[in-house]
Amino acid sequence: MQVAIDGPASAGKSTVAKLIAQKLNFIYIDTGAMYRACTIIAQKHGIDYSNEAEILKAVEAEGIEFQTVNNEQRVYVGKQDVSQEIRTPEISANVSQVSALAGIRAKMVDLQRQMAGKMDVVMDGRDIGTTVLPNAQVKIFLIASAYSRAKRRMLDFKERGIKNSQTIEEIEADITARDYKDSHRKISPLRKAASAIEIDTTNMTIAQVVDAILAEIKKSQ
Ligand code: C5P
Repeated sequence: MQVAIDGPASAGKSTVAKLIAQKLNFIYIDTGAMYRACTIIAQKHGIDYSNEAEILKAVEAEGIEFQTVNNEQRVYVGKQDVSQEIRTPEISANVSQVSALAGIRAKMVDLQRQMAGKMDVVMDGRDIGTTVLPNAQVKIFLIASAYSRAKRRMLDFKERGIKNSQTIEEIEADITARDYKDSHRKISPLRKAASAIEIDTTNMTIAQVVDAILAEIKKSQ
């Protein structure tokens, strides 16, 4: 069983995807974390975010790994846990440039398909229903107003203990800019798959969104 959850930044994808994976005993794959890890590798090596060949070389040399620790997915670059660092505003501001590189996408999509081939998965991202898992039995497209997404992001910073000096309006501007880049890139832009079910989570609780998706999964079984 493959469940694909796509949508713009901070629409609640990872929160609900994790809960659904826990409930159904599926594995959860956060594909955004993989592009964020590539971005942090470029940053650490001082590589320009447009230099595809050098970023790919560094990604191959360092390696990106996922591990589940206390029910939490942790991301490692080499031996270092970068789960917190990949969420900073600086990485968020540059990840769309790195994720638009053809070679980086090809490598990440390959890894994502390998992971999905082994077990039942819930995978979240931007192109899961359209490109990574086009045969997923359930495809969900989560949306929410930009302001409510900015509010959620602010809360998320607090909960994760990430320092934040931005106002809600600044966060809203950042996520709107990122959505624009993600939906206007040449390769696998953010868009709703033809067969995806769109859920507007603006006025929904997390539990309501989880229930709505679980109902769709049940229908498909
Ligand atoms: O989901 P998250 O906000 O962590 O994703 C970070 C970035 O990674 C996105 O803004 C997008 O540029 C890229 N991404 C992507 N394809 C995916 C998942 C994320 O291009 N499947």
